Amino acid sequence: MARYEIHGGTPLRGSVTISGAKNAAVAILPAAILIEGKCRVENVPDISDVRILLEILSDLGVVVERFPDGSVTLDSTVIRSTRPSPELVKKMRASYYLMGVLLSRFGEADVALPGGCNFASRPIDQHIKGFKALGANVDETEEYVRLSPGENGLQGARVNLDVVSVGATMNIIMAATLLPGQTVIENAAKEPHIVDLANFLNTMGANISGAGTDTIKIRGVEKLSGGTYAIIPDQIEAGTYLAAVAAVGGDVLVKNVIPKHMECITSKLQEMGATIENFDDAIRITSTGNLTCTTVKTRPYPGFPTDMQAQICVCMTVADGVSNLTENVYETRFFGYCNELAAMGADIQINGKTAIVTGTPRLSGASVTAKDLRAGAALIIAGLTARGTTYVDNIHYVERGYERLIEKMTALGADIRVIEE
Ligand code: EPU
Repeated sequence: MARYEIHGGTPLRGSVTISGAKNAAVAILPAAILIEGKCRVENVPDISDVRILLEILSDLGVVVERFPDGSVTLDSTVIRSTRPSPELVKKMRASYYLMGVLLSRFGEADVALPGGCNFASRPIDQHIKGFKALGANVDETEEYVRLSPGENGLQGARVNLDVVSVGATMNIIMAATLLPGQTVIENAAKEPHIVDLANFLNTMGANISGAGTDTIKIRGVEKLSGGTYAIIPDQIEAGTYLAAVAAVGGDVLVKNVIPKHMECITSKLQEMGATIENFDDAIRITSTGNLTCTTVKTRPYPGFPTDMQAQICVCMTVADGVSNLTENVYETRFFGYCNELAAMGADIQINGKTAIVTGTPRLSGASVTAKDLRAGAALIIAGLTARGTTYVDNIHYVERGYERLIEKMTALGADIRVIEE
């Protein structure tokens, strides 16, 4: 089994270039099915979730070509089936987007329930609510979701989401893109990758307005034509490197970012004592590694992202004083890593939705296990700050979302490698 071996204590210095956003890519690539033709997507991260998704798309008939510069061409002229391989679909979370795109283009879809990081129950009732509002019949079991046109056919509609959901917002946007009439999504999520999906679809000929606000309007179009689009940089990958430098100490230029997307994260790191300098498409962070405690509450964008909860928690474990970290999106997410951090000497008490983190001067190396993607990223940061050697198991979780992590970290001076045992 492969594991990371990390020798902590070396400050991080140099520059790192951020890859395309995972959670944008996993929506934009299946959205190519909406195009009866060819498109080119640039800045696609080379991560395992993307590789699985491209395999699913090829299997459905999409002609996929990857290029060394990170771009991918997808030709969806001929789609052989509306039933993607259940074995592949179960390997990742974002395969639920196949429901929306297949419904929109073919009026039907037969998709197994998705897999992915299991840090919570992660229901898809809001996606289903959207499909039903658009006129779909939904046959749902514990194994699959089958969609077909209802009595009155498929058409635009008003959907008011009961919870702010990134996945449901994107899925309904995609489902509505080729349907007649106008769809309005109220209480929509506002994450940067939602704007990115809308920009991609509009570039291909869709008519979507309001993405980035809580009301999104989709006026259905008959067809999309091809085009070229570049995915935005990954907010969470960038945040992970920034948190690592804050906790470990050092001086790093994080390149290919949109500083505006990073404000919810950089403002907290500044509060904790790191120095942040914003450039047009880069952020420089310097830190002595001596941080002070803070309070963080995760919220949908523009709040502090749940996907940075575990990484900021590591900063808190080595900060001076008592920090409070409240999770408002996925309550059970603490269980993916807090026990592992405790094994490294962290003092974390969990009280319902809040972790109370009392800082210690330094963590100690230990053998720990990643239980999901961001938990794995946090354990790596913990290992980089710790005295001694840390081993992190289950590295496949990390590989789902971080492109060339070892290469990027070692270029910054981190002592981290993959070992086979
Ligand atoms: N929710 C429902 N019903 C639904 C959908 C969501 O109750 O139908 C609830 C969830 O249980 C959760 C909240 O709404 O409490 C928000 O969930 P959301 O739908 O926004 O999450 P998601 O779309 O399944 C995406 C990212 C996650 C990220 C969340 C929140 C992808 C593929 N995944 O998940 O990313 O944590 O949004 O920002 O885009 C990660 O990258 O590590 C990751 C887990």
